[in-house]
Amino acid sequence: MAKVNESKLIWMDGKLIPWEDATVHVLTHSLHYGNAVFEGVRAYQTPKGPAIFRLKEHTKRLMNSAKSCLINIPFTQEELERAQIEVIKANEFTQTVYIRPLVFLGYGSMGVSHKGSPTQVAIVAWQWGAYMGDEALRKGIKVKISSWMKPAPFSMMAKAKASANYFNSQMANFEALDAGYDEALLLDPQGFVAEGSGECFFIVKDGVIITPPNDTSLESITQQTVIEIAKDLGYTVLRQRITRDEVYTADEAFFTGTAAEVTPISNIDGRIIGKGERGDVAGALQAAYFDVVMGKNPKFEHYLTYVK
Ligand SMILES: Cc1ncc(COP(=O)(O)O)c(C=O)c1O
Repeated sequence: MAKVNESKLIWMDGKLIPWEDATVHVLTHSLHYGNAVFEGVRAYQTPKGPAIFRLKEHTKRLMNSAKSCLINIPFTQEELERAQIEVIKANEFTQTVYIRPLVFLGYGSMGVSHKGSPTQVAIVAWQWGAYMGDEALRKGIKVKISSWMKPAPFSMMAKAKASANYFNSQMANFEALDAGYDEALLLDPQGFVAEGSGECFFIVKDGVIITPPNDTSLESITQQTVIEIAKDLGYTVLRQRITRDEVYTADEAFFTGTAAEVTPISNIDGRIIGKGERGDVAGALQAAYFDVVMGKNPKFEHYLTYVK
């Protein structure tokens, strides 16, 4: 879908190296058995220069993901935060940036056991605008409820941002796109809404905003931010399970995520949601979210790490 706008320098295992030199051996353990963890972080251009949004929370989640997945990161949280700042500084970006810290098991051993495989860390950043395009943010997207369900908590660990979890996401996303939709919405093993392939899900019903608990989904930083913004704007927000029929009859629906930001949903499984365009609540939250991440709302400035 999205082609990467190459930048100049990548931070790899403790130092900045040219983009084209950030390569790995074909026996990289994670390539074969899928155990790696990553983050998706954004940096925005603000009146005070580039700022990374919720750097601490993203880096903490990376450390926790690694712990859950039995990967020892040979750097501290503070070192990884500094490294992300270094990457932004070194590349001199002029637009919105996506930062991808990746922790993976390198070349060292083979077989399912990952003992003996060294841990490697890469931090890549590139300029990346709207995840599903500017029109998606303005008009909303078409969503398909997936035939793939989220794995039960005794099968996988959804709270870890583990690469292995994205096989499930990738299959669901392909199915949706192949059927002419823009994104998938996955249900949990009990049939309640879990999340999108890379986003959290919200509905609006009678003026109340509802988003499911993170039982089988990522503990999302944007979802938590949007809830905080919504409450600040005076909305009531409920964390409760959502059924399929509640999705179809919602007044509004939207996705949130670091990449997706606040993306309105206009149609789900052929049912037009609300007016079939960006709803008023989604529009208000989207505008407020962009103000927050771009440093235009002093109440939320503590979430920004200025790079210069
Ligand atoms: C599966 C999944 N759920 C939810 C999210 C939203 O999480 P966040 O808001 O922390 O980016 C993402 C994106 O990171 C994701 O990949």
